[in-house]
Parts: sequence; C-alpha cells; structure tokens
Amino acid sequence: MNAVVTTRREGAIAVVAIDNPPVNALSTPVKRALLAAFAALERDPAVKGVVLSAAGHTFAAGADIGEMDRAPEPPFLPEVVAAIDACTKPTAAALFGNVLGGGLELALACRLRVADAATRLGFPEVKLGLAPGAGGTQRLMRRTDFATAVRLVTTGKSIGAEEASGLGLIDRIADEDVTRAAIAALSDAIARDAIPKSTAAGASAAPAAAHLQALRAEVRKTARGQQAPLKALEVMAATAGKPLVEGLAAERALFLDLRASVESRALRYLFLAERDAGRLPEIAGVEPRPIRHIGVVGAGLMGCGIGFAAAASGCRVTFIDSNDEAVERGKARIEELFAASLRSGRLSPDACAKRNAQFAFSTEVGALADADLVIEAIFENMDAKRAVFAKLDAIVRPNAILASNTSYLDIDEIAAATKDPSRVVGLHFFSPAHVMRLCEVVRGAETDADVLATAVAVARKLGKIPVVTRVCEGFCGNRILRRYRLVAEAMLEDGALPDEIDAAMTAYGFAMGPFAVQDMSGLEIAYANRKLTPPIVDGRRMVLVERLVEADRLGRKNGKGWYLYSDGAREGVPDPDVANIIAAASAEKGIARRAFSRDEITQRLIRAIQDEGQRVLDEGVVSRAADVDLVLVHGYGFPSYKGGPMFARANSLT
Ligand code: COA
Repeated sequence: MNAVVTTRREGAIAVVAIDNPPVNALSTPVKRALLAAFAALERDPAVKGVVLSAAGHTFAAGADIGEMDRAPEPPFLPEVVAAIDACTKPTAAALFGNVLGGGLELALACRLRVADAATRLGFPEVKLGLAPGAGGTQRLMRRTDFATAVRLVTTGKSIGAEEASGLGLIDRIADEDVTRAAIAALSDAIARDAIPKSTAAGASAAPAAAHLQALRAEVRKTARGQQAPLKALEVMAATAGKPLVEGLAAERALFLDLRASVESRALRYLFLAERDAGRLPEIAGVEPRPIRHIGVVGAGLMGCGIGFAAAASGCRVTFIDSNDEAVERGKARIEELFAASLRSGRLSPDACAKRNAQFAFSTEVGALADADLVIEAIFENMDAKRAVFAKLDAIVRPNAILASNTSYLDIDEIAAATKDPSRVVGLHFFSPAHVMRLCEVVRGAETDADVLATAVAVARKLGKIPVVTRVCEGFCGNRILRRYRLVAEAMLEDGALPDEIDAAMTAYGFAMGPFAVQDMSGLEIAYANRKLTPPIVDGRRMVLVERLVEADRLGRKNGKGWYLYSDGAREGVPDPDVANIIAAASAEKGIARRAFSRDEITQRLIRAIQDEGQRVLDEGVVSRAADVDLVLVHGYGFPSYKGGPMFARANSLT
C-alpha cells in the first residue's frame, strides 16, 4: 500500500505531505500517519522546522465523508490538530487547491500559512449538516471578527486566497511553487527568530447582544430550515471570549451531536449520491465520444441556458433558430447572461469576451454539419421535434449524437424520425439551464451504450448531476410532479384551500408550495396535457385546472391563477373566486368538504411523491432510490436536509 503521508527533508526543514488521492481527505490512516510523522520529527534534532503540504491538486478537502457512517476509529482530528499546534519545531502550511474543513483546521494549527493565488479556503461542514469539530470555529474567531467567522462557518462558502489573506488567515500568497515558498518563509522566520504565536493563543471577542440578534436573524434566513448553521452560531456565541479548552470542548460536543443527526446523514448521503449519479454498470468502462462542438436548436430561454453552460465547459456552441428575429432574441439572451455574470463577478470582462467568441448563430441547419452533439430545445410538440430530428439526421456526421431536451415526450418516437435511432438520447435540463444542476439523461430503447456514456459525460462536463432514466411520460421528475399536483388538487376538492396546502409544504421545507409554483410557470401546459391524458385520482376525474384556465386564470403572467397577483407582484393572495370554483367542484361530486391539518396535508402529499417514486423504481425507469432523491431535491425543491423522498421514507422522516 502506498504511504498516505510522506516525509522528506529539504536541508533543516522537513516536508510532510498528505498523499491520499483524489482530494487528500483526512481518513483514519492519514490521521494516524500524520501523528506518527510529527512524533518522529519531534525526536529528530536535525529538523529545525516542518512544512505541512500535500501531493496532487488539492491540499485537503477535510474529513473523509465516506468514513462518517462507520463506527469512529481513533485517532480523532482534534488530537492531530493539537499535536501540530503543540509541535516544538516551527511549522508552516503550504496551501493550494481546496483547503476545506479539517484541511483548514490543520492549516490554522501551523504557525505560518503560505498559499498559491488560486487556493480556496472554507468550512463547508454545514453543507453536510455538520460544523467544524477540530478547533475550526475557535481558531477562526481568534483570527477574524466574530461576524466574519460566523458567516464563514454558517454559510459554508469558501473564499479565495486574496480574501483569506485580508482576513488574516494567510500570511503570504506565493507566485512560485507553494511548498518552496513555504520552506523559504519558514526558514526566514526561523533565521529572524520571528515565529508567530499559535493561532489559538489569542482571545476571541464576544459579540454585543444586539449584534448577535441580527446575526441570528441572518443565519435563520440563509439556513432555510437546516439546524447545523443555527447550532454552530449558538456554540460560537456561547464560547466567544472564553478560554480555548472550553471552546474546543463545546465545539466537539456539537460536532458529535450533529454527526449523528438525520440532517447530516441525509446531506452526506446526497453528497455521495450526487457523485455516483450516472455511474451505471452498463456503461462502466465505455469510452465517451469526444464532444467539442455542440449545436443547440432553438435559441429560446432553455436553449440559451444550455448553450451558456456548454460554452462554460469549453465547447464551441452553434445556435440555430427559425428566423432572424428569433436569432436576434437568442443573441440578446446570451448578452443578458454575460451581463449577469459580470455583475455578480463570476466572470471578468476578459473571460466574457473570450467565451463570447465560442458562440455562433444561424438560421441554417447546415451550420451544424460538423457538430459532435446537437441538443434540440424547441417547444414541446412531437411533430415539430420529429421534423427537426429528420433534418438533423440528414446533415450531421454519422457519429454525431442527437439529443432532445423534451421534458416528457417519447424519445423513441422522436428517434424513429431518424435513420439511426441508436444515436438519439434525451437530455432534459431544468430551467434556468445554466444554473439548475439536475439533468435527466433519457435512454431510448435503441440508444447505444457509448451514446449514453457520452450523454452522461457531457452532463457532468456542463456541471450537472446526470440521472439516467428510461422513457415514460414525464420521465422520473415530471411524472412524480404530476402525481404530486393531482393529489394536491384532490385535497382541494376534499376541503383544503391552495394557501393551506402551500403553507404546509413550505413548512415541510419546500421553497414554494405546489400551487404557487404552478402559478409561476403558468397553467396552460398542464391544461393542454390534461386534455390529452384525463387526470384521475382515486377514481375521480380532476377538473380544477381546466376550470381555472377556462376562467382565464393562467397564473402569475396574467395576474390570476390559484392566487390573485396585484400589479406584477410575485406573491399572490388567496382569491375568494378560486375558493368558489373549488367549492363548486366539491359540490358537483357530492364531496362533504372538511378541514385538513398541516400534518395531514404534508403526510398525504409526501406519501404521494414516495409512492410514485417507488413505482418509477419498480418499473425500472430509474435504477436506484437515490436517483429519485436526486431528481426531487435538485429539480423540484424537495428539502435536501431530508435527503429526498425515498431517504425520508427509509428513515421514517415523515
Ligand atoms: N471525503 C471523502 N471523499 C471526498 C471528499 C471528502 N471530504 N471530498 C471529495 N471526495 C471525493 C468525491 O466523493 C469524489 O469521489 P469519486 O470520484 O469516487 O466520486 C472525488 O473525491 C472528487 O470529488 P468531486 O466533488 O467530484 O470533485 P470536485 O473537484 O468537483 O470538488 C471538492 C472537489 C473538494 C471541492 C468537493 O469534493 C467537496 O466539496 N468536497 C467536500 C468537502 C467537505 O465538505 N469537507 C468537509 C468534510 S466534514
């Protein structure tokens, strides 16, 4: 077995390097080896200083997430951090790549920190329902002001080297090789007898009561139902200004408590499931086709979002639309996306200009003759899509892949319009496609294994989580959504009101309830679908969407849907006219309306989602329960800290 920690000598300086690919996670063997390495160096009189560094692309991504569901094995991280902090030889950390969680805790225990300019530092633990557990909160509070420390810990966001340097977390940003720079900085400090004190040496300042109240409100807002950020804040507030030992004990107690929480188990499960998505045995080892030029047919909102993400991944992108006006609208959309990236600082003007050069627009489908992959993103109409595919089939290279972004139509029927259905696949992105992380990869009956492998690889390259589904109406996500909405509608007929149902679902953890979401996206598509497939729940034909649309209630866009919207307001208010439409439907069906408690609403709707999820699994539409969970969490707002509907059911969370 390879050594997970190596030690080498550069003169009087020892370089201890963590070597645990791919991200130098601090597994039990790594912690053991670090302790052994520092103990050995303590005993070696020839060693005058120690640089803590790492092999590979990243310093350390923190604790080993894969180990957290097993019985904890010593040594624990606080012991390793304490050994580094107490090292009698001066220490420096050489930082690069990601310095996260336990990685940053190790770095903060060193006397000096040198980083290369691209280093990202942070405490992402809350994203896994955890909080730092090896001195991170305490050392951070001794380095920066209380509010900054709280923001870093409770948002889990990482910061760049420049910002970290401004906050006093880094002593030097190196242009040259960072290990060399750390050796030089440490040797220099030793020579000048100017070794800084331990980060733990200082005192942290307690916040004023009013300040703490404001921070509590801020954290409650950003935590959105999650416990870990709020608990981390409380421990930081309770230990600020207190002796280090007290702080370390309180922090550790919280970490152990959180590690055992369902919230953390759920978020860790999703972390691993996200990385495992799309890894199917059928395509293991299948080489994806190289994709450098992507064509997008339809430069609408969805097409532009897809193209924008594709360009960000380094591909050349050619948009095709039917006429000059549509092309101009597409160009304007791409410009808007660049402007937003500039405003948020995600892209520099230089990067925008470079990326802009990757785009081409045309009204001629022939411009796609040398594309490696074409993604069709036109409106949802089978005949129109088949016509596009027949045209594309005739002009693209024989090994080019043809994908449809349809959200529910039959991929096999679309593929049948081509001479080679084996190269056709579905790539169902979610809107806005440059932001939303989910992508359903739909394999048709005849899709080739290497076409599927390529589609999964492309989705990954675009930064998406690829969930492979088979063909069925609505695939995994929209099929479950349809059931969820229909059961919610049945509950209206039984006696609930839209705002009661929406309030119950937001209390459960969804950002919005089903009726507010439907108003946002508009009711006409559901209306058109219902004309095609009559919606039945428990033997009852659902009628309410039709009644609303026929009363010209289309949703937010025309100021009235399930709610009433005054002058373009985003939030609607309950409308007595809707209550009357619902009551009339109940009366027609002879239903005696009754009151529903919040719990009853939640349980019925979550059960509907879980039952449909189980059917999707049983039918083999997706191959594992985690796929359903990823789809619901990343595409439909299911609260991530509950792990998704199937995790919630398996863990009796509702
Ligand atoms: N423990 C164990 N495995 C980890 C890990 C960790 N802390 N962090 C990443 N990995 C694994 C991933 O599971 C993945 O494994 P796989 O290829 O077998 O699926 C691999 O490392 C690469 O990770 P990935 O996220 O795909 O790479 P990336 O380059 O997109 O992102 C990071 C790298 C470090 C930014 C990202 O992995 C991350 O945020 N990790 C979690 C950090 C964290 O929360 N640390 C605190 C733990 S308490």
